[in-house]
Amino acid sequence: MLKKNREWSARIQTESPGYLESVSRAQKPEILWVGCSDSRVGPDQLIGLPMGSVFVHRNIANLFATGDLNCLAVLEYAIDELKIPNIVVCGHYECGGIKAAMEHSGIQPVDLWLDQVRFVYQRHADTLNQLQPDKRANRLAELNVEAQVHNICRNTIVREAWRRGQKVNVIGVIYDIHDGLLKQLGIQYSSQEEWESGYS
Ligand code: CO
Repeated sequence: MLKKNREWSARIQTESPGYLESVSRAQKPEILWVGCSDSRVGPDQLIGLPMGSVFVHRNIANLFATGDLNCLAVLEYAIDELKIPNIVVCGHYECGGIKAAMEHSGIQPVDLWLDQVRFVYQRHADTLNQLQPDKRANRLAELNVEAQVHNICRNTIVREAWRRGQKVNVIGVIYDIHDGLLKQLGIQYSSQEEWESGYS
């Protein structure tokens, strides 16, 4: 790891002299990324934006847990301090967290964390149960993205920002791990009115 790091540092300082120095002064990210911790879905590789562009929050199954201090602190800092205009919730197909939520429950920390996905499943059980198991997990991953977008829009940090006229665009996408492409889900809200009409 350290060897790779030294190589990277040397390369970037040769190819772009002064770049690290300029980035070190401040960050001005355009995106708050809420994604899964899965090692295959790191945003830096997926969207190829330069350093300083993406403020990242990741956890198992890309949840925005409304009672989680970490999630709330990230959202508050992203909106109130960094004034980030776009929040992207990115789920992914073949998500181990989604599959685990469907397959078993229990009292271990991961099980308890994934209860939030089970609530999404229960809400959509009628349609999900008609699908084949592999399609069911992928559809649940999409529905979970939608649920997390609503959790973010429902939050007072976002609603207060909208109320005072700050630009906050909340978008749900899903990453297809098979072809490396991000797919839009038609879930996007940039005002309280838009969100309320979409939610109903
Ligand atoms: Co995952």
